Amino acid sequence: MTSSQTASSRNQITAPARVNLLGEHTDYTGGFVLPIAIPFQTRATIQPGASRQYRFRSDQFPGERILTLDDREGRENLWSDYPVGVLRELQKIGISPPPFTLELTGNVPFGAGLSSSASIEVASCLAILRLARETLTPQQVAQLCQRAENIYVQSPCGIMDQFVIASGRANHALMLNTRDLTYQCLPMNRGTLDDTCIVVCNSMVKHSVAAGEYGTRRLESEQAQAAICAAHPAIRDLGDATIGMLNTVADRISANAYKRAHHIITENGRVLQAKDAMEHGDAQTLGELMTAAHASERDDFECSCDEIDFLVETALELPGCLGARLTGGGFGGCTVNLVSRDHSQSLAAALRRQYLDRWGIEAQTYVCEAVDGAMRSNGFLEGDHHG
Ligand code: GLA
Repeated sequence: MTSSQTASSRNQITAPARVNLLGEHTDYTGGFVLPIAIPFQTRATIQPGASRQYRFRSDQFPGERILTLDDREGRENLWSDYPVGVLRELQKIGISPPPFTLELTGNVPFGAGLSSSASIEVASCLAILRLARETLTPQQVAQLCQRAENIYVQSPCGIMDQFVIASGRANHALMLNTRDLTYQCLPMNRGTLDDTCIVVCNSMVKHSVAAGEYGTRRLESEQAQAAICAAHPAIRDLGDATIGMLNTVADRISANAYKRAHHIITENGRVLQAKDAMEHGDAQTLGELMTAAHASERDDFECSCDEIDFLVETALELPGCLGARLTGGGFGGCTVNLVSRDHSQSLAAALRRQYLDRWGIEAQTYVCEAVDGAMRSNGFLEGDHHG
């Protein structure tokens, strides 16, 4: 490394995107998720500023957002709300960075369900921490970035995206218990899993219901959770609940609340089975669980759409596909496919071709493997060997 490279890497942070293998819509009722970090990048470059200002720029959007050091203005419905929200949360815990210019670049597709927002939050958070010469644990970083999104951006997301983008580990999926934030890194290269890779397919559609429906689904799930907890005092959240318990409250909750909880409870069970399958290097079973998860998302959680169902059904007919499902919040976005490595490129090409024929839309496909999260890849976790 030359000295100028050393200087630039010191003030530059990269954060990946994420794709979730299993455990969808389980992260706001104490359940399990199984995401991986994937090799897209948000790059945050931070430079000390001369004036008493914080400046935010992005190569994706025009203009610059400028705040003074003691500015407390609210959100502006701009991309910069994400890093500004992070700055606010850092200030709330007593971290007051010196003036800076933060510039964001990168290639994470926006609005595709691959967590461009959490990638921006984590990259910004780590860049500001480095400038301020402060450190936080991976859990604190994930929770702080989630609060930035919940409180400042006012988007009611769970903790999954921020957590895996901060703490993911190369060649592993991160199984996170979202109740207590304990996690385990499960190998993606054991047994028959070693012959597989992940193919992400971006449908390029995002139905406009997506934003509002996330909140509605969350409220319906919480309604079922409250009813179960009231009837069964030992139960802390849906993470503990069984279908038998859900059935005891069926006549006290709406039909939708029942279906949402049915998805969540069965989905938590699938993540636990997937853990077992991964520990045994059993790609076949992991794939079957992913495909079963899709049926549950489509029929019980009702967060799929025709384009996504088409991509899942088409993939499952193609050689080499072991499992396919909708990933992320839903109503469009991406599918995630577990595919034998030998077939990954041909499957991706066939999927794009058939999708174009049916919908007239050019899907994008990404063949990927799990990469390190931002705290590992930027040296915040040196010597850490969790899981
Ligand atoms: C979005 C949210 C996550 C999670 C998923 C659904 O990606 O940001 O917290 O709830 O939807 O699993």
